Amino acid sequence: MSTNAAVKPVVKKTGGLAGIVAGETKISAAGGAHTLEYRGYSIYELAEKAAFEEVAYLLLRGELPTKSEYDAYKKRLRGLRELPGDLKAVLELIPMDAHPMDVMRTATSYLGNIEPEDAMNDQLSVADRLVALYPGILVYWWKFARDGDRINEVTAADSVAEHFLTLLHGKKPSDLHVQAMNVSLILYAEHEFNASTFTARTITSTTSDIYSAVTGAIGALRGNLHGGANEAAMELIQKFKTPEDAIAGVTNMMATKQLIMGFGHRVYTEADPRNVVIKAWSKRLSDEVGNTTLYPVSEAIEKLMWDEKHLFPNLDFYSASVYNLLGIPTPMFTPVFVMSRVTGWIAHIMEQRSNNKLIRPSADYTGPETRSFVPVESRK
Ligand SMILES: CC(C)(COP(=O)(O)OP(=O)(O)OC[C@H]1O[C@@H](n2cnc3c(N)ncnc32)[C@H](O)[C@@H]1OP(=O)(O)O)[C@@H](O)C(=O)NCCC(=O)NCCS
Repeated sequence: MSTNAAVKPVVKKTGGLAGIVAGETKISAAGGAHTLEYRGYSIYELAEKAAFEEVAYLLLRGELPTKSEYDAYKKRLRGLRELPGDLKAVLELIPMDAHPMDVMRTATSYLGNIEPEDAMNDQLSVADRLVALYPGILVYWWKFARDGDRINEVTAADSVAEHFLTLLHGKKPSDLHVQAMNVSLILYAEHEFNASTFTARTITSTTSDIYSAVTGAIGALRGNLHGGANEAAMELIQKFKTPEDAIAGVTNMMATKQLIMGFGHRVYTEADPRNVVIKAWSKRLSDEVGNTTLYPVSEAIEKLMWDEKHLFPNLDFYSASVYNLLGIPTPMFTPVFVMSRVTGWIAHIMEQRSNNKLIRPSADYTGPETRSFVPVESRK
């Protein structure tokens, strides 16, 4: 057989790599019989019984911690909360109207300069540092940019959830709020080969450094089709005062083929397994304060989307009302996702490194036929 002609494999054309298995992972299984598991543990059990720090440890170190490992890990994270002075100076330069996701991206990139990954600062150390620093980075910038306040970003709070809410509200949060935040961080921590994780793996596959991979992942998460959907969902829900308003408004949006943010999923076809958990928290927090708008409006949109389009809410939809009820400003919703997903990203970065192969797919060329170059002075 002649070997002159390039033989191209026959590939099924799927937009956006839908349905393509792009690699193997031991970190999580999404869809199919597994529904959603982190290293074999159901997210339902984790959300009900675990702390975010246990899940972070599981994702990053492969197994749930023993009691002494857990205590030591939490202590370690608490000890890593202080922001470097130079990073604070950088945060103070970022204007108030910047998007907080850009702040997270810049801070991560800058940290790569002052705390580079090296023999003294390995990938797990960087992971722990980012988990510990992100709440402080976000809230320090937010308060300085708005009020000129240089907050003390170091708290004695026990957990990441409590630390973030304490910084944000300047006081100790209720146990219920810490619990809700903890569950949300667990649900957002990991999700197989989603766009931002795949970005992190692609960057890692070139043998680049961990900060570059996380910075790139933040960029991928920022868009509305991925992490940005939780902010967009809040903006949608807040437009409506009653379920009837919501039905009329969303019906109009569907008639003009607009996307309803917080609905649909690339992997799941009938439901997002995380939804039932976060939805219950939305109800619980609404009942706590007697909010009679957010939850009923959200449910009306959910029912309409299912009846009309067979589309179901993904994690982002009810996360919006949960965060709102926790007093988190809407532009912080996607950065909160970063605080959690950084654990999944770095677990994938480490897995990619452990068996690396450059990620470089091929494309079908659909451009012009071969043609001759015309010098610029002769071009018409
Ligand atoms: C998540 C998402 C990007 C998955 O997209 P996908 O797998 O490429 O699915 P498609 O975009 O091909 O959607 C299939 C059909 O459902 C429609 N659809 C999907 N999600 C929709 C949504 N949220 N609102 C309205 N219609 C939607 C599409 O318009 C498309 O309709 P068509 O066949 O008439 O063109 C998509 O559902 C979406 O944009 N959702 C909103 C953003 C969001 O919530 N993102 C967070 C994901 S966790």
